[in-house]
Amino acid sequence: MKGEEVAIKVIPKAKMTTAISIEDARREVRILNSLTGHRNLVQFYDAYEDEDNVYIVMELCKGGELLERILSRGGKYSEEDAKAVIFQILSVISFCHLQGVVHRDLKPENFLFLTKDEKSTLKAIDFGLSDFAKPDERLNDIVGSAYYVAPEVLHRSYGTEADMWSIGVIAYILLCGSRPFWARTESGIFRAVLKEEPSFDEAPWPSLSSQAKDFVKILLNKDFRKRMTAAQALCHPWLRNPEELKIPLDIVVYKLVKAYICSSSLRKSALRALAKTLTVDQLYYLQEQFSLLGPNKSGYISLQNFKMALLRNSTDAMKDSGILDFVNMVSSLQYRKLDFEEFAAATISVHQMEALDAWEQHARHGYEFFEKDGNRPIRIEELASDLGLSPSVPVHVVLQDWIRHSDGKLSLLGFVKLLHGFSSRTIPKA
Ligand SMILES: *[C@@H]1O[C@H](CO)[C@@H](O)[C@H](O)[C@H]1NC(C)=O
Ligand SMILES: *[C@@H]1O[C@H](CO)[C@@H](O)[C@H](O)[C@H]1NC(C)=O
Repeated sequence: MKGEEVAIKVIPKAKMTTAISIEDARREVRILNSLTGHRNLVQFYDAYEDEDNVYIVMELCKGGELLERILSRGGKYSEEDAKAVIFQILSVISFCHLQGVVHRDLKPENFLFLTKDEKSTLKAIDFGLSDFAKPDERLNDIVGSAYYVAPEVLHRSYGTEADMWSIGVIAYILLCGSRPFWARTESGIFRAVLKEEPSFDEAPWPSLSSQAKDFVKILLNKDFRKRMTAAQALCHPWLRNPEELKIPLDIVVYKLVKAYICSSSLRKSALRALAKTLTVDQLYYLQEQFSLLGPNKSGYISLQNFKMALLRNSTDAMKDSGILDFVNMVSSLQYRKLDFEEFAAATISVHQMEALDAWEQHARHGYEFFEKDGNRPIRIEELASDLGLSPSVPVHVVLQDWIRHSDGKLSLLGFVKLLHGFSSRTIPKA
């Protein structure tokens, strides 16, 4: 900090009326301290406390808020300029998510430019509402800013996907200059977030690229399971720029591989069949993830590779967030090494694929492959246990269409249900 100008955030203790809010300020310091060093995150120098305040000493960003720049341009960014902004936001947020930190308050006010230069680096500055998110747990407190809040936050059950929604809102605003969900009152905004679809009909949307629209639409999907992750968003064709792009490791790959390994062999072969239908764009992201895991010369990775890859990017935040415990658990499972083909099957997110326009074709083609080398006669009881149905479900009523009567093998419907694996919510009430 030799002679450099710094910014000092002062958090008055008088406003911290409860032990919880003091804990919040300390958590912000812990998060900044662990994550500092990323190019798009404000440099953290020091923090201290006296009787009256908590002080956080940070790098000074002189370029002003992203919000001011949006307003000074009359509310609109060109696609190229919007890409540069979104790219930097995704870069820092993919890093946070890998560390198990969910930001919870992404909005243009919380990003500053380092300098006044047009091409200045953008920095995330405020982690006051951030929290640690264990990979297998959901958060439930409603925090954030109304215009940017994801529907599942309002339903009090969310994880890192909520940040992706907020990035979708920011991208929407950058590209068209207005908010996707708007009302005069806070409750009106919440109602719009929960019930309304953003408009892509008015100017300038018809003149923007279809890739830009696709990008924003996937992030503003109300079903959080269908949204892209930050690492996936960086691979989206709208943003993809092979020269400068280094795709980060994606923690969702770890969750999906764990679920795959714990699945029945029938579900595994269904996923393998579906993987044969992946497009070049979809494979691009998976190949990037596979190579980050460091396959051996013959192209295989073991579960130890998953651990080593994560440790290369670990910070103290990973300890706080439970990501390290999670990956220790995953890497201690017993399973053979995976080649790319099996890795791709393991890391397909069926929910995300369902959101694609071409989903039905994928499902049909996948089913054709499955018919050739995976389908076999199965008893209803066996299928029920494969699907993880509880004993209270009247399986013969529910499952009769999922098995073909002519030969006792899975029908297309049964195949699609099996792809989803355990999930009681996919089962209709009989
Ligand atoms: C890579 O792993 C596979 C599967 O365990 C093994 O058969 C192969 O010999 C390994 N290749 C190298 C170059 O270590
Ligand atoms: C993660 O690790 C890789 C490989 O060591 C490295 O190239 C990359 O810069 C790291 N990323 C971050 C954000 O630390």
